[in-house]
Amino acid sequence: MVFKGKRLLLGVSGGIAAYKAAELARRLVVAGAGVKVVMTRSGQEFVTPLTFQALTGQSVAGSLFGPGAQPLEHVTLGQEVDAIVLAPATANLIGKMAAGIGDDLLTTVLLAASRPVLVCPAMNSQMWRQVVVQENIGRLKARGLTVMEPEVGALACGDEGPGRLPEVERIMEALAKLVTCQDLTGQRILVTAGPTHEDLDPVRLITNRSSGKMGYALARAAWRRGAEVCLVSGPTALAAPYGVELVMVRSAQEMLATLRQRFPAASALLMAAAVSDYRPESLAVQKIKRGAEAQQFQLVQNPDILKELRSLKTNQMVVGFAAETQDLVAAGRRKLKDKDLDLIVANEVGRPDAGFAVDTNEVTLITREGDILPLPLLSKEEVAQKIMDWLAQKLAPAK
Ligand code: CTP
Repeated sequence: MVFKGKRLLLGVSGGIAAYKAAELARRLVVAGAGVKVVMTRSGQEFVTPLTFQALTGQSVAGSLFGPGAQPLEHVTLGQEVDAIVLAPATANLIGKMAAGIGDDLLTTVLLAASRPVLVCPAMNSQMWRQVVVQENIGRLKARGLTVMEPEVGALACGDEGPGRLPEVERIMEALAKLVTCQDLTGQRILVTAGPTHEDLDPVRLITNRSSGKMGYALARAAWRRGAEVCLVSGPTALAAPYGVELVMVRSAQEMLATLRQRFPAASALLMAAAVSDYRPESLAVQKIKRGAEAQQFQLVQNPDILKELRSLKTNQMVVGFAAETQDLVAAGRRKLKDKDLDLIVANEVGRPDAGFAVDTNEVTLITREGDILPLPLLSKEEVAQKIMDWLAQKLAPAK
């Protein structure tokens, strides 16, 4: 959704990670972007322009002069796109950019560019650690370019260390931010996600079917729009969202303790976690053995986290989520009032296409002012965008 209709320039320089740039190009095209590839001569030694041409459906630009070169491309290419991504960016390309050198098409395009640039370095660890390379990286950052950290791991040359091109997924996240309106800049957004685990004994627990997908989508959406995001997550199988501070917790009590610390400094809390309302009264130290025909366990109520946080509320926007099997709007309204919320996102669970563990959701937004906004069936990413639209409008611009 973020990349739909966006025009991107992908600069490919000469490192072995150039082969991964083909996958990046493909994924961006599938996501709806128009991708124009510019390759350095060394880049073309690793992957042929034909590969990118076939993947993007556009001609690949590779030289300032000679057959195929367009007279004004070196100026226009970097100005008519929404963002530029350099993947891989070699030490040589980074050095030339830092020094202001334009001795081939890509470096000249970068000198004339007026759009945001994402630099994705990939090189041998020793090169990455060189003082001069680090100085050059510092210069690019000081000029406002976004530079990703290379990943640590096994490198093609046999070394282990920092230098791997960041995963395509992460490059796409970083790039998504560069093409998204930054209307949450300066805001500190706290998001909760996933189920809680309430232990019964060392191997058994009480939990629910929440996958965490809605909360993780909210955290990603807020980060893309410029917010500083802390995601407090119960146990999930999801990967940490790029750029977001992730705090993993297990039980409702642990989640409450973390939120008590974080909530006062936040501008908004989005409480998407499916918190267990009850926990076993006591935790058995040893595994409970099979015994009598029937077993009974006493449960005690967990704190209602949103209610507990009411006393710490100053001017934070607080958003709750209500998963209901019936009387959606009435139940949503009741919870909004009861928990003193600014917005409640109510959804019907028990349907195959909405609610737990699926990628789509059909929700109704209910505001403190009494507005009721039913949304159609959307992806969780789209639902997250709608909630961010509401939030951006509500939050005063940060000073
Ligand atoms: N919530 C919370 N603390 C709890 C339970 C829920 O803060 N112990 C939050 C959820 O994260 C959600 C909102 O309250 O944002 C509504 O959750 P829901 O489970 O629908 O509400 P309950 O008050 O537990 O009501 P119900 O009786 O329907 O379970």
